[in-house]
Amino acid sequence: MKTNRKLPAFFPTIGILMMVLAFYAFKADHGTNEVYLAQTPWENLKVLPQDISKDSLTHLMNNYSASLGVNCKYCHVPSKLDPTEMDFANDAKIEKEIARGMITMTNEINENYFKPYFPDPKPHQVHVVNCVMCHRGTSNPEKYLSQMGDMYKTYDPERDNRKEKILEQGQK
Ligand code: HEC
Ligand code: HEC
Repeated sequence: MKTNRKLPAFFPTIGILMMVLAFYAFKADHGTNEVYLAQTPWENLKVLPQDISKDSLTHLMNNYSASLGVNCKYCHVPSKLDPTEMDFANDAKIEKEIARGMITMTNEINENYFKPYFPDPKPHQVHVVNCVMCHRGTSNPEKYLSQMGDMYKTYDPERDNRKEKILEQGQK
């Protein structure tokens, strides 16, 4: 009979399967945090929290794009291996590096100058100042303000902005 001949191989297989399952149950029990951290997909975050969720990161990136009136390619480059894909972890663009400084600056303004006036913020961060408050849908708010000359007498619309300066100095 066919079924009888297969039975001896069947029991060891179940045994191995149970050992494997027990191993994973043990791992899940004792290493939840490590496993979770190791699984975060981000490769190159230097200012945002390492464990930021995909939803929060996507929300932030859409927010930066809308605030500056640009798309993802303003700060990110396509992948060298497959140009139809983006290489979001790549730091080739100076705009991405400037944006890191802008994120830090914005966080510090909120932390140092607004949070003290919100005694018990929930969650424990305040976001009074954000990108759009200065940028208003343009990448360079300083150049965009047409009345700059009236408000700020020494303002020279031709003066180099930060990006041009850094590019000139050949730092990036
Ligand atoms: C104004 C610049 C800017 C724009 C526009 C922008 N990003 Fe980013 N993005 C950044 C910066 C800066 C970082 C790195 C943050 C850090 O170092 O903590 C980043 C990081 C990321 C990462 C994480 C990469 C990794 O693994 O390290 C992803 C994914 C990403 N961006 C997706 C997007 C998408 C999708 C868009 C368009 C909807 C977008 N970004 C638009 C500046 C930008
Ligand atoms: C307090 C006002 C202010 C806030 C807040 C602010 N920015 Fe800026 N940002 C500026 C000004 C002004 C410039 C242009 C001046 C310069 O770079 O010389 C600029 C320039 C930039 C540039 C370079 C643009 C270019 O092509 O020259 C990027 C990228 C940028 N900001 C991203 C951001 C992001 C992302 C945020 C939010 C996390 C943000 N900024 C928040 C004022 C601000």
